[in-house]
Amino acid sequence: MSTPTETELDALGGAIAGEIDGAGSIGALEEIRVSALGKKGRVSLLMKSLGQMSPEERQTMGPALNGLKVRITDLIQGKKDALEAAALDARLETERVDITLPVAPELEGRIHPVSQVTDELVAIFADMGFSLAEGPDIEDDFHNFTALNFPPAHPAREMHDTFFLKQDDAELQAQQKGGRAAANEPPKVLRTHTSPVQIRHMMANKPPIRIIVPGRTYRCDSDQTHTPMFNQIEGLVIDKATHMGHLKGCLIEFIKAFFEIDEINYRFRPHFFPFTEPSAEMDIGYTVDENGEQKIGHGGQFMEILGCGMVHPNVLKNCGLDPDEYQGFAFGLGVDRLAMLKYGIRDLRPFWEADQRWLKHYGFRPLDMPNLAGGLSR
Ligand code: PHE
Repeated sequence: MSTPTETELDALGGAIAGEIDGAGSIGALEEIRVSALGKKGRVSLLMKSLGQMSPEERQTMGPALNGLKVRITDLIQGKKDALEAAALDARLETERVDITLPVAPELEGRIHPVSQVTDELVAIFADMGFSLAEGPDIEDDFHNFTALNFPPAHPAREMHDTFFLKQDDAELQAQQKGGRAAANEPPKVLRTHTSPVQIRHMMANKPPIRIIVPGRTYRCDSDQTHTPMFNQIEGLVIDKATHMGHLKGCLIEFIKAFFEIDEINYRFRPHFFPFTEPSAEMDIGYTVDENGEQKIGHGGQFMEILGCGMVHPNVLKNCGLDPDEYQGFAFGLGVDRLAMLKYGIRDLRPFWEADQRWLKHYGFRPLDMPNLAGGLSR
């Protein structure tokens, strides 16, 4: 390459400046930059040729070429800023926000999955003619165990991992004044299930009875799927002609409505509860897909979802009902487990951690109230 004259350099500088000025986009500008200052760019090649020049030539050409490079770099940067500003202006023009428009208030609060599922369960059973009943969390031994046909000192009482309440002095004194030995009055408990409400309701109401009982229950147990406090819903139906077929029909209808599928695999497996005879546990079928997600309904794997049975004649007797006249069924299901199953929540412990982020993710909008007509869970 022959050494360019000063006029040639000026001409090259002018040509590149003209190109820069005419660039219509960042992309075009980048092409010009490469063609001038890139590895094989026009200015870069000239700078490389400095090596072949005589020392005198280099003395004038060095600064001249460097000046050209700086000038072009500045021009490109200036043009780039201008193009970017123009692009931003164009965007602002099209994306204009009308800040005078009214803003819809944002719903911040969420309904906890347990509340949502409780409402779903109540909606399903209300539709089958059940009404709501409630009872206290702190129970006495009679309602939680004895009246439910748990034999005295039977290991079933231990089986429930019961929380016993400490008896205070006033309570002990009152018992002694009443002439009873303190040891005869067992301590109060945190109810281990919602079944004691069966007793309370049967003692206070005449059949026909058709109730569901949502409530908190307590057992000394804690891991990924057990917490010391959990939620159950109890069901109780008592009249003169209700039999095991009604129990099955009611619960099959329930699982279809709850999981919102028409065909669902289930089985009733014989079990033991002191307060029902015969007793069963109901299992539902599921499959595990390739991602490890459980899919409820079909498949040969079964998981237990509730306990049920025909109310034991002794329980009816304990409530003043004649077992030769009345009969019926009861069931008890774990609300938290059902919430986990239906909404794919794997760990039970965050249910009670009051973590706003968890609640935002798993919670429900306050106005999405479950009802059968509108669809249970939308
Ligand atoms: N109370 C039982 C439990 O908590 C469940 C149950 C309720 C079983 C009613 C049968 C009938 O395990």
